[in-house]
Amino acid sequence: MLLAQITDTHLKTGGKLAYGKVDTATALSNSVAHLNALTPRPEAVIITGDLADMGRPEAYGLFCEIVSGLAMPYYVIPGNHDEIGAFCDAFRDHSYLPGDGHFQHYAIEDHAVRLVGLDTTVHGHPHGLLCSERLEWLDQTLAEFPEKSTLIFMHHPPFLTGIAHMDRQNCRNAQGLNEVIRRHTQVVRITCGHVHRPMQILWAGVCAGIAPGTSHSVALDLNLDGPPAFVLEPPACQLFYQTGDGNLVSHLSFIGDFEGPHPFFDDTGALID
Ligand SMILES: [Fe+2]
Ligand SMILES: [Fe+2]
Repeated sequence: MLLAQITDTHLKTGGKLAYGKVDTATALSNSVAHLNALTPRPEAVIITGDLADMGRPEAYGLFCEIVSGLAMPYYVIPGNHDEIGAFCDAFRDHSYLPGDGHFQHYAIEDHAVRLVGLDTTVHGHPHGLLCSERLEWLDQTLAEFPEKSTLIFMHHPPFLTGIAHMDRQNCRNAQGLNEVIRRHTQVVRITCGHVHRPMQILWAGVCAGIAPGTSHSVALDLNLDGPPAFVLEPPACQLFYQTGDGNLVSHLSFIGDFEGPHPFFDDTGALID
C-alpha cells in the first residue's frame, strides 16, 4: 500500500502570488503531475489543510479544477486558512465529508491502513483545538476497529516544533489528544501540516510528524524571537508505504526536475570508481 500526503497548498487565483512571491497554483499543478508520475502510483492522496490561502470560493474552484487531474482519489481536511462554508460547498460531492459546516471529521476504510481525518480548525483563529466533543468522536471512532492499523491526519500539530511563532498557533488541548491516542494502540502514525516543514517526533507513543508544503516553507529558525518568514526550498510530498512486514515507512518525494537517477554500477557489475 502506498499513500501520499500533500499539504498547505494556499491556493491563489488570477495569477496572484501568495505573499507577493509564491505561485501556489503552479505549485499545485506540479504536485498533481508529480503524484500521477510516481511508480508505483499512490492509491490515494490526503490533503491536510490550508487548501485556499484566504478561504475564498473561487480559490476552491481552482483547487478542485487542478486536483481533478489526480489519477487517484483524494481526501481533504481544512486548515486555519480555509473557510468552512466555502470548503463544504466546494467538496459537496465528497461523500466521506459530513459537509454540514460542523467538524469535518471522517474515517476511510478503503485501504490497508485505516485513515482518520481530524478537523482541528477554530473559526477566525490561526491556532487549532481538539475540544472534548472532537476528542469524544475520535475516541469512539478509534474504538470501532481496534485491530486495524490507523493513520490519523490533521492540520495543526499537537506537539511543539521549536519554531516559536508557529508553536504559538499549534493544536491546543494536546494533552487530551495524547490520552485518547494512548488508549488506542492501533494508531501507527499521526501526520500534520501547518508548519510547512518536514519533521518527526515520538509523541503519545506514536511516530508523529509534519509533511513539507507543496510551495513555500516556513523558515527554519529555532530562535525564540525568530520572526514569521518563509523560504522557497524545494517542495515535496510525503509518502506512506506499507512494507512487506506490515510496517508503515514514510518517504519524502521532492517535486521538481532533478538530475538522475544515475547507476551505482557499470555494465560489468562493478561499482563505478
Ligand atoms: Fe499553511
Ligand atoms: Fe495552517
